[in-house]
Amino acid sequence: MHFDLSEDHRLLQESVRAFARAKILPHAASFDREGHFPRALLGELAQMGLMGVYVPEDYGGAGLDVLAYIVAMEELSAACASVGVTVSVQNSLTIDPIQTFGTEPQKRRFLVPLAQGKAIGCFALSEPGTGSDAANQQTVCVPDGDGWILNGTKNFITNAPIADTIVVFAMSDKSLGNRGICAFVLDMRTPGVSCAPKEHKLGIRASPCSSVIFEDVRVGPDAMLGRVGEGFKVAMKTLDGGRIGIAAQALGIARQAYEEALQYAQDRQAFGAPISALQAIQHKLADMAMELDAARLLIHRAAWLKDQGQPFSKEAAMAKLYASEMATRVTHQALQVHGGYGYLEDFQAARHSRDARITEIYEGTSEIQRLVVAAATLKELGG
Ligand code: CAA
Repeated sequence: MHFDLSEDHRLLQESVRAFARAKILPHAASFDREGHFPRALLGELAQMGLMGVYVPEDYGGAGLDVLAYIVAMEELSAACASVGVTVSVQNSLTIDPIQTFGTEPQKRRFLVPLAQGKAIGCFALSEPGTGSDAANQQTVCVPDGDGWILNGTKNFITNAPIADTIVVFAMSDKSLGNRGICAFVLDMRTPGVSCAPKEHKLGIRASPCSSVIFEDVRVGPDAMLGRVGEGFKVAMKTLDGGRIGIAAQALGIARQAYEEALQYAQDRQAFGAPISALQAIQHKLADMAMELDAARLLIHRAAWLKDQGQPFSKEAAMAKLYASEMATRVTHQALQVHGGYGYLEDFQAARHSRDARITEIYEGTSEIQRLVVAAATLKELGG
């Protein structure tokens, strides 16, 4: 057993870190202030292979593995959490289900441009009245000839205002519960699909997010991902992978907040010395360093399991649960180390604190992660 990254992963980490620090970090505060998504950056991220990290090269991807994706996610999110989530939704939530459940024509039509970064993706599961209780889908799909007609509203859809491709879930037979749900992949320009105005959020303000409305949207049989009634499993399997990505996003946000607090503690003088000489501050820095390490270990284990083709649902939920709650604690303490300056937007501590909060909510709240971990643990015990 060893804990080092391979040479390839380390080189990727260095190159993404250098890119993120040079091209993203200096502008992250203004992206946040202006709610501006830096679309031009996506071309450069695509050139680095980051829009389809673990998609085989034959399908336009970088042909790397999930651990490589996670390493890149930490670096991008340390620079800007909004860029991080865009890349995460692309890789985990849009590409992954097409790669896993798509037919060859679906892969050629949707996966290739997504992996090349020529198309942006989004994932539409949540609805105005259906968040954690994901099986209770109100969006419906009704058979129409050999295809389907979709009606309903999805909300909190990250990337929707800039997306070209959407993976969407709809109920075909309510009496079957979670077995009556279908998954589809379609072009956002399909007649009847529209986006509501962008949401104003506490954090990740540069990440575009809106509701998506489906009004008599006609799709052919080739739009279905997986089989009739398999949609809930498509969603759950996709979210298992997505949760590792969000855990890495939380880790990146928290690491950046910690590094800035560490620097500030060495610069700021009080009581005749840098505040890093004070035990009260040292204890905070020690806890932050330990929690960052613990989160990274959980995240890398979950990514490694997915790469091995082993079950990883419980480990992904643990990684997401721990990393997101850790990010809330670490960014809170990092702001505290900055004292009054931390409360001003002139420093980055406030932004990190606002950005961290969402990681406890999307892709399954902390409460849902605890359910998943408990259910898996009891199942292992035969309960
Ligand atoms: N993989 C494969 N199958 C799974 C699965 C998994 N991880 N989890 C559950 N299933 C299967 C079960 O085996 C079961 O199958 P059978 O019916 O054949 O036995 C079926 O799904 C139903 O399982 P449950 O009874 O456990 O389902 P449930 O209705 O109780 O719900 C839940 C379980 C964990 C609460 C689930 O609803 C859930 O994860 N909710 C949270 C949804 C979520 O994460 N939403 C995030 C939206 S996306 C987002 O946030 C994107 C963004 O903006 C960035």
